[in-house]
Amino acid sequence: MTKLLGISGSLRRGSYNSALLRAATRLMPEDATLEVASIRGIPLYDGDVEAQGIPPAVTQLKEAIVAADGVLLVTPEYNNSIPGVFKNAIDWLSRPTTDIRRVFGGRRFAIIGASPGPFGTVLSQNAWLSVMRTLGTHVWFGGRLAVARANNVFDESGTLKDAAVEEQLKQFLAGYVAFLRTPAAR
Ligand SMILES: Cc1cc2nc3c(=O)[nH]c(=O)nc-3n(C[C@H](O)[C@H](O)[C@H](O)COP(=O)(O)O)c2cc1C
Repeated sequence: MTKLLGISGSLRRGSYNSALLRAATRLMPEDATLEVASIRGIPLYDGDVEAQGIPPAVTQLKEAIVAADGVLLVTPEYNNSIPGVFKNAIDWLSRPTTDIRRVFGGRRFAIIGASPGPFGTVLSQNAWLSVMRTLGTHVWFGGRLAVARANNVFDESGTLKDAAVEEQLKQFLAGYVAFLRTPAAR
């Protein structure tokens, strides 16, 4: 069984990125699971808070990452880059630095995203790459999914209604899971 953990970078109830992640859970290949994790409850990073201990929501997400074979980041795009709330969460997960190798080192990440705009988070996905490199992850580049015009792709209840995007997502997940099943080069 291949275990994926998916993290949406939006807190919004009607989030397209959370909707994309939900759609992914039902399009997974056989013998693979996708657990949905959340950044909700992670405070703003503050070194003084850290000095008192890593917040429980951070520890919980860290251990979920450690237990996963791969991590799927589902990222919105703000001002052509990573939304602060999502970057904040990953910044917390990188603390203390002595834990970076255990949580991120050689771990196989993939990045997708959705936006109502015409470019579908391409720039935000690119912005993640320097962060992923710094943390020592292996990002899968075998597929690409940037869902543009997301307001036309999901219905009012947040269900994926676009057959072409559904097929692209399915293919992306199949490719990523196949990659996760190859021996890890850690
Ligand atoms: C501060 C801010 C900046 C934004 N900048 C961009 C942008 O650069 N590119 C883009 O495609 N959409 C941008 N948007 C629109 C978001 O893609 C849109 O709000 C989207 O619904 C956010 O993702 P979510 O639905 O998962 O919450 C921006 C939205 C906000 C609030």
